[in-house]
Amino acid sequence: MDDIAEPLRGMNVLVTGASGGIGGATAELFAAKGATVYLTDVDDAAGQDRARRLGPSAHYRRLDVTDESDWRAVVSEMEWAGHPLRVLVNSAGTAMKAPLAQTTLAQFRRMIDLHLVGTFLGLQAAASAMTTGGTVVTISSLRGVLATAGLGAYGAAKFGVRALTKVAALELAERGIRVNSVCPGSIDTEITSVPDFAADDVGSYVRTIPMQRRGTPDEVAKVILFLAGADSSYVTGIDLLVDGGTAAGVRTPRKQDTEGMR
Ligand SMILES: NC(=O)c1ccc[n+]([C@@H]2O[C@H](COP(=O)([O-])OP(=O)(O)OC[C@H]3O[C@@H](n4cnc5c(N)ncnc54)[C@H](O)[C@@H]3O)[C@@H](O)[C@H]2O)c1
Repeated sequence: MDDIAEPLRGMNVLVTGASGGIGGATAELFAAKGATVYLTDVDDAAGQDRARRLGPSAHYRRLDVTDESDWRAVVSEMEWAGHPLRVLVNSAGTAMKAPLAQTTLAQFRRMIDLHLVGTFLGLQAAASAMTTGGTVVTISSLRGVLATAGLGAYGAAKFGVRALTKVAALELAERGIRVNSVCPGSIDTEITSVPDFAADDVGSYVRTIPMQRRGTPDEVAKVILFLAGADSSYVTGIDLLVDGGTAAGVRTPRKQDTEGMR
């Protein structure tokens, strides 16, 4: 019974991007489920504050996901502290919107570095630290499943995250390490308030979502929990969309959406 109520009791979890929306909701849910959680980010103030609120089983450490030495330091510290890494959630990220022709090389490289190199380094850290098995959940995106005009750099990185996830799942399965990806649609967090994202008409965008609303960080965190814990024990190498039905296909406009159009 305890396993069902607290599927992560005794598990040592590292969450990147834990000062943010999805990573933060995941850290909070996992702590509530009995895990020891290392919250990591580059936003130290928010991360420290969240870890303090979560109590003694939560720790904040600075970890820039693009920096190999930061990964080594935090994973080694977990080992020394008697909390060897068993679950990794790679949630760090930021968005950037621009047509390809107007995307600078520096912007393109930044997206690849943050999402793809960051995920690569996390997978390497997990592969070396999870000597007795474990789980990794990477965060791709609906935009890593459906190509989206204006999101070339972000989308290329997120398509790549899914590829890396599947390769890692194949290579690590026999060592008892499962690796899966979550692909959120539009979730209400800071990331969607970056310049050019916020400029979009949220209302008209929401009308394209079959469920007619954006998702919440908690709704993504619950799916991450499923993939991280024992309830998904025979699942590896998948992409799980959390998108209100957007990728299912094209939705015929409802009558009220087209009223007054002619
Ligand atoms: N919110 C959405 O609609 C949405 C949709 C699809 C995918 N995603 C993905 O979900 C993940 C989490 O996004 P979110 O919505 O919680 O955004 P968020 O902005 O709330 O959180 C992202 C966090 O990543 C941190 N971060 C940025 N650069 C970092 C670095 N180099 N090293 C470590 N941390 C860094 C930020 O400080 C922030 O706390 C991202 O990978 C994002 O691409 C989000």
